[in-house]
Amino acid sequence: MATINLENLSMIYGSNGSSYTALSGVSLDIQEGDFISLIGPSGCGKSTIIDLVSGLKVPTEGTIRLDNEPVNGPGPDRGTVFQDYSLFPWMTTFENICFAIEHTNGTHTKETVEESAQNYLDLVGLGKFRNAYPNTLSGGMRQRASIARMFSMNPRVFLMDEPFGALDSLNRIYMQDLLLHLWSDGERRKTVLFVTHDVDEALLLSDRIAVMTPSPGRIKEIVDVPFARPRCRKSLSTSAEYVALKAHLLSVLYCDMVDAIENQTADHRVVA
Ligand SMILES: Nc1ncnc2c1ncn2[C@@H]1O[C@H](COP(=O)(O)OP(=O)(O)O)[C@@H](O)[C@H]1O
Ligand SMILES: [Mg+2]
Repeated sequence: MATINLENLSMIYGSNGSSYTALSGVSLDIQEGDFISLIGPSGCGKSTIIDLVSGLKVPTEGTIRLDNEPVNGPGPDRGTVFQDYSLFPWMTTFENICFAIEHTNGTHTKETVEESAQNYLDLVGLGKFRNAYPNTLSGGMRQRASIARMFSMNPRVFLMDEPFGALDSLNRIYMQDLLLHLWSDGERRKTVLFVTHDVDEALLLSDRIAVMTPSPGRIKEIVDVPFARPRCRKSLSTSAEYVALKAHLLSVLYCDMVDAIENQTADHRVVA
């Protein structure tokens, strides 16, 4: 587990005269073991934040710290799951996970790597699919393999970018429960930065929800999610507190969306 601190991040894409401000003044402190969701409309910079924390991108301004150390690039201390099933297509599920474990710190023997990879595949119900290639698996199965890979690396933090966004609703429920089940195990519990645009998903999974504005992305509000764990999806969604919190989050998101659409429409009118 680790702390993550984002301090006054801004991200401007582009060069040679054309630039686009994707993030502006984003600050966020994430405590050890926190499960925090970033929620906001498409294009508000959620993936950019994940890419910055994972070290794949460098902010235009600001600092990212992991356990108070500046992040200067990618590393196995951060396990990432992307929306688009980022397994190596030329490797089987088993080989994908072995590869990830081999690239973590520590001494590894072939036996320990293979034993651990098999354990994690079993844990997500893919033990029998160890020799399958990603393109022969369903979307849900590929995401289970990605999650097995993330846990198998035993990173300090989990970065998850809309990991269940492309799944049908039943698979999504299954994956949310699986993630909570694995994460709630003391040894596997990590600090999590989770991106979603689904309010129910954020409320079910998170300790806190950071609501972002449309572009340029800023953190508009941080909401504490007060529900005790383990959480029961059914009783949660009918509780008055849940319904009120959901209504609040939707109204914040919806107001911003309407403002953004109205601004765009106004811009078009000016151009026309
Ligand atoms: N490499 C890039 N070059 C230029 N613009 C980009 C790049 N990556 C993202 N953007 C823009 O930055 C904004 C934020 O993107 P992103 O972080 O992917 O948003 P989100 O994940 O919230 O949908 C979008 O308007 C997107 O078009
Ligand atoms: Mg995104």
